[in-house]
Amino acid sequence: VAERGAAPAVRIIGFGCHPDHLTPEARAALASCDYVVAAAKSDDDRLLAVRAALCRQVGVELVAVPDPARDRTGPDGHGPRDYDGAVRDWHDARAEAWGAVLAERGGVAGFLVWGDPAFYDSTIRVVDRLGLSYDVVPGISAPQLLAARHRVVLHEVGRPVLFTTGRRLLADAVGHDNLVVMLDGSLTCRRLSGEWDIWWGANLGTSSERLVSGPLAAVLPEIESARAAAKADAGWVMDTYLVRRAS
Ligand SMILES: C[S@@+](CC[C@H](N)C(=O)[O-])C[C@H]1O[C@@H](n2cnc3c(N)ncnc32)[C@H](O)[C@@H]1O
Repeated sequence: VAERGAAPAVRIIGFGCHPDHLTPEARAALASCDYVVAAAKSDDDRLLAVRAALCRQVGVELVAVPDPARDRTGPDGHGPRDYDGAVRDWHDARAEAWGAVLAERGGVAGFLVWGDPAFYDSTIRVVDRLGLSYDVVPGISAPQLLAARHRVVLHEVGRPVLFTTGRRLLADAVGHDNLVVMLDGSLTCRRLSGEWDIWWGANLGTSSERLVSGPLAAVLPEIESARAAAKADAGWVMDTYLVRRAS
């Protein structure tokens, strides 16, 4: 890990949920890179296009690296039986692909991370495998934007909040009163038992942003149609929500 004062070989830079969220600190970090490495998931990779636009703005070269395939097969069609093992293999394959580019090019490489690198993103873990010095510049994450848009604190006074995924929500809801849910393509909150309030947001920080809040059971139809509308507007949808057990 980069010592204070030592120049990092790799800079992991969070850029928020929209190019306008790039902070002055992140912009300066990006400008200090010799090039940016970005995973290319397909020929029509929307996230790659956002990164390319940021690099053009700042005048830094973008090096697109084909992303190794991840094993998403499994008995229920929602992922492999050994989920952790499949993710580990995928991280190893990414580290190998990125390491080859860094070894060939040298200099300071940047990685542009959607939101903040600390939330549901593997860049830090993968770069850490490379054994190079690196630093991390924070960005505005989806949960922060969600809280700001709804003008809420993510927990009551002095209470905890759990960050989790749609995949784990039903198990994690047992014993927790405040949960921030990400990576949920299928609105798993529909299957929560008990009474909950929800603060939901899709495509936060973009022109297709949608917000809905209220008692979960009452506002679910509104969330479903707002989700479809966000997708129709932008061609994609990503949503994050806070659920709180109703008191
Ligand atoms: C791979 S994670 C990346 C999270 C990101 N590092 C962050 O700090 O927000 C992707 C998930 O983040 C959430 N997300 C990212 N961008 C979003 C946005 N603009 N609006 C709502 N949710 C978003 C969604 O839950 C999505 O499934």
